[in-house]
Formats: sequence, C-alpha cells, structure tokens
Amino acid sequence: MFITFEGPDGSGKTTQVQRAAARLRADGHQVLLTREPGGTAIGDQIRAVLHSMDNTAMLPNTELLLYSASRAQLVGEAIRPHLEQGGIVICDRFYDSTMAYQGYGHGLDLDTLRIITEFATGGLKPDLTLYLDIAPEDGLQRRLSAVAQGEEWNRLDDMEMAFHRRVREGYHQLIAAEPQRWVQIDGARSMDAVHDDIMQVLASRLKQMA
Ligand code: TMP
Repeated sequence: MFITFEGPDGSGKTTQVQRAAARLRADGHQVLLTREPGGTAIGDQIRAVLHSMDNTAMLPNTELLLYSASRAQLVGEAIRPHLEQGGIVICDRFYDSTMAYQGYGHGLDLDTLRIITEFATGGLKPDLTLYLDIAPEDGLQRRLSAVAQGEEWNRLDDMEMAFHRRVREGYHQLIAAEPQRWVQIDGARSMDAVHDDIMQVLASRLKQMA
C-alpha cells in the first residue's frame, strides 16, 4: 500500500509521518518511510540544490524538472521495490506537491506537469493521500519556531505569502477533483489529535485492504 502525506509548509507532516510509521511498524507492518525531494543518495543531492538559499535565481521550470528527477530516482530505487515485496510505503510529499507548488503556486501548465509526472513515476499513484490542512499564516509561525530549533529554512519557505495561499487553494482543488484518494485532516490542532485521526484512517484502510 502506497500512502502519501501532503500539506502546506508548517502543516506538521514530518512529525506525523514519523509517528504513523512507528505505530505501523509496532503493529508488525514492513514500512518504508521516505520523503520528497530526496529519499535516495541521488535525490538528497538534488534536494540540496532545490532548497539552497543560494539558488534564488532558479526558474520554475528548472525547479519542476529537478523535483521530477528526484521523484524518478525514488520511485525506481526505493518505492516500487518495497511495494513489490508487499510492504507499506509512506512518503512525505509526492507528485501532488508538484501540482500544488509548481502548478498552482508558480502557475506552470497543469497538463504539462501531468505528462512530466507520468514519465517520472511510470504511472505510479498513491492508494491514499492524507492532507494536513493549515492556513499559511499559521504554517509560517510553526516553521519559524521549528527553524529556531535548528530546522532548515528553505528557498520554498521563503516565497511570498500569496504563493503559499495559492498552494493551499491548489491542494483544495486537487482534493475536489479526486475525493476518493484524499482524506483531509485539520492540521492546526494538537499533534496528538492529528495523530489520532491519522491512525483511525490508516486502521480502517488497512482493514479494507486485508
Ligand atoms: P519539506 O521537506 O520541508 O516539506 O520541504 C519540501 C519543500 O519543497 C516544500 O516547500 C514543498 C516543496 N516541493 C515542491 O515545491 N514541489 C515538489 O514536487 C515537492 C516534492 C516539494
């Protein structure tokens, strides 16, 4: 089963994927927890280029191709092999981030993004996507406290508030277009409340698939 987590910056995804993976492992599941961009040695090098504050001159189409390159490597090297062995893959962001950030955020053509994504993934789609929703202003506050505790502040965090509003609106449109794949969770609540909702959704999906 292939599960992805999506959401605006500061939605708490990274903490939540770790907690969810730990719980599923404790229940005996073989879980690969990975993230985008990155998740492979090659992808992590691409991530460093994408997120570097030295690269503020990067064009949106360059950005798109680099995220897609990282994705192609991750799917081929790690995600598909793990799924083929019957395991669960949890990925912190996947191609919906490209649609939301490069498509709705930067305004790149959505049909072109779909073609490039299909090429990068070989058509692999998540079985379930959990979307942690948060208003950009609240997400920013969370990011600032995380950065104060040592997390990176990246080039995408640094985009203006209007960009982050378009990203969030983009996510809402993606959910409306494909409601059967997505579950939306209010990410503005406490980490424990969000975790409990996530585990309920995962337990019921795993039961359905058993
Ligand atoms: P994160 O690992 O902290 O979520 O940071 C990843 C950043 O990269 C985040 O700002 C969203 C952005 N991103 C895109 O713009 N497009 C993509 O396809 C992906 C995977 C991430």
